Amino acid sequence: MATDHSKQPESTAWVKAPDPKLYINPLPVRIWHWLHALGFVTLILTGIQIRYSAYINVLNFETAVRTHNWVAFAVIGNYFIWLFFYLFTDKITNYHPELNPKKFFEKAMAQMQYYGYGIFKGEHSPHKVVPHDKFNPMQSITYQIVMLFVVPIQFLTGIMMWDVKRFESWINAVGGLAVVDTVHVVIFIFFVSFVMIHAYMGALGARPSSHFKEMFTGYEEEH
Ligand code: HEM
Repeated sequence: MATDHSKQPESTAWVKAPDPKLYINPLPVRIWHWLHALGFVTLILTGIQIRYSAYINVLNFETAVRTHNWVAFAVIGNYFIWLFFYLFTDKITNYHPELNPKKFFEKAMAQMQYYGYGIFKGEHSPHKVVPHDKFNPMQSITYQIVMLFVVPIQFLTGIMMWDVKRFESWINAVGGLAVVDTVHVVIFIFFVSFVMIHAYMGALGARPSSHFKEMFTGYEEEH
C-alpha cells in the first residue's frame, strides 16, 4: 500500500538529528581546573593575610602560613595533571601556537575587534571551537604564558621561600631573598587581576553561564 506523504508533519526537524554537542573539556582538565581555581583563590586569600598581617587579622599568622604552604604543594602536584594530560594526549593540538606571524596577527586582531566591539552587537566569535582547537588566539597565547612561565616561576619562588636554608644557593643565584620575594609578590598581584579578568572573560560565552557549565560538564553549551 502506498504511503500518503501529504500526511507528513510540517516540521522536518525529526528527519535531521540535532548536531551532537562537542566534547571540549575532558575529565582530567576539568578536575585539574576546578582544584586549581579553588587552590589559587585560597593561596591569594592566605597570601593577603600573610603579606598584610599588620592590617588584616582574619586568620592567625601561623595558620595562614601553614595553610598557604599545604595548599601550595597540593596546587603544584595538581599542575602535573594538566601538564601530563596535554603532553601525553593528542589534545596538545589545542596549545599549538600559530607559527605564521601574519596569520596570528590577523586572527588576534579579529578576536580583539570581536571582544571590543562585535560582541556588543551580537556578532559571533571569529574563532570556531572544535575539540582539537578550542582556544581563540588570545586565549591560547595567554594560557601558554601563564601555565608554562608565570605559574612555574610562582611555584619556584614559593618553594625557595618555604625553606630559605635548604634553598640558600638557589636564592643567592637569583640575587637574594628580596628579589625572590618581590617576584613572588608581583606575580601574586598579577594573579589577582588575572583571576578577575579570566572570570569576566569566562562569562562572555553564548550565555554568561555557558563557559562555566562547559568546564563542569565537558560539553560545549552552544554551537
Ligand atoms: C575563580 C577562579 C576561576 C574561574 C571562575 C575560572 C573559569 C574558567 C572557565 C569558565 C574556563 C573555560 C573557558 C576557557 O577555556 O577560557 C577556564 C579555563 C581555563 N582556566 Fe580558569 N578559572 C579560574 C581560575 C583559573 C586560574 C587561577 C588559572 C591559572 C592560573 C586558570 C587557568 C585556566 C586555563 C589554563 C584554562 C584552559 C584549560 C584547558 O582547557 O586547558 N583558571 N577557566
